[in-house]
Amino acid sequence: MNRLNGKVALITGAARGIGLAIARRFREEGAEVVLNDLDAKAAEKAAAEIGGHALIADVSDSAAVAQMFEQVATKHGRLDILVNNAGINGFDHRPAYAELFRKRLSAQAMELVMGGPVRTHLDLTVQETDEDWQRILAVHLNGTFFCCRAALKIMNSRLSGSIINMSSIMGTSGAPGTAAYAAAKGGILGFTRSLAREVASRGIRVNAIAPGWIETDLTAFLGKIKSLVAAQTPLGRIGKPDDVAWAAVYLAADESKFLTGQVLSPNGGWHMSQ
Ligand SMILES: NC(=O)c1ccc[n+]([C@@H]2O[C@H](COP(=O)([O-])OP(=O)(O)OC[C@H]3O[C@@H](n4cnc5c(N)ncnc54)[C@H](O)[C@@H]3O)[C@@H](O)[C@H]2O)c1
Repeated sequence: MNRLNGKVALITGAARGIGLAIARRFREEGAEVVLNDLDAKAAEKAAAEIGGHALIADVSDSAAVAQMFEQVATKHGRLDILVNNAGINGFDHRPAYAELFRKRLSAQAMELVMGGPVRTHLDLTVQETDEDWQRILAVHLNGTFFCCRAALKIMNSRLSGSIINMSSIMGTSGAPGTAAYAAAKGGILGFTRSLAREVASRGIRVNAIAPGWIETDLTAFLGKIKSLVAAQTPLGRIGKPDDVAWAAVYLAADESKFLTGQVLSPNGGWHMSQ
């Protein structure tokens, strides 16, 4: 308790899922929390529930992000912690694509269970549109850059701060059918390490979290494949948003003051190297 007393934190994509769990834990640890999201109604409800305040902006919109951070500077006069968490899975507005993914992946799993070989082709990247590719990169990669740039304008002069970028195990392990998402999450890891080296002289730390499979709306598209994922996870289950929130508390707090440019990966052992 009280690990984040007196600190101001902004968490993007905090209306639900992992972002909301982080906002809740940060609040419990004494931080003032700003919950960003695209979904105004859900963000305001969440903010009222935990005692934070909501700021609505699309993180992939550079001007909207700049304006949001100006509001933070005006209202709080400081920013100590930024969590770049907002994200999409790329399946959200493409139900037919998601169905194809589920069907073909299940067929491959069945072929493996029967002793192989795998004869079903996933063939999803070949169907990816320019628009979808760019949308996924815009939210994850551009959004992370836009928010870091704007946050540094507040943090730089204070010579302290903790930035936490949400990557994924997909950023290093990859996964079939998720090339754009994995490219964005891998990009976030490179960006994190580079920025960590750049701003260390200002006392600002930049780290990443690369969660494994976590039970949220983002993974709902998996449907029955979830039980397969749980079975393949050494710790025997899919993660909970709170499993990620505790990693964020650690990276935000002074207990991690000697960590920068690092990746924490709460993943139940599904992936053992980041
Ligand atoms: N759930 C998992 O298994 C998992 C695993 C690894 C990494 N992640 C990453 O964790 C982060 C949070 O995921 P989640 O599972 O909680 O997802 P979620 O879908 O439950 O929540 C994502 C939130 O981000 C918001 N959002 C989406 N686009 C936005 C934008 N352009 N601007 C502002 N807000 C936006 C949504 O409205 C939503 O509230 C994402 O970056 C995701 O890629 C999730």
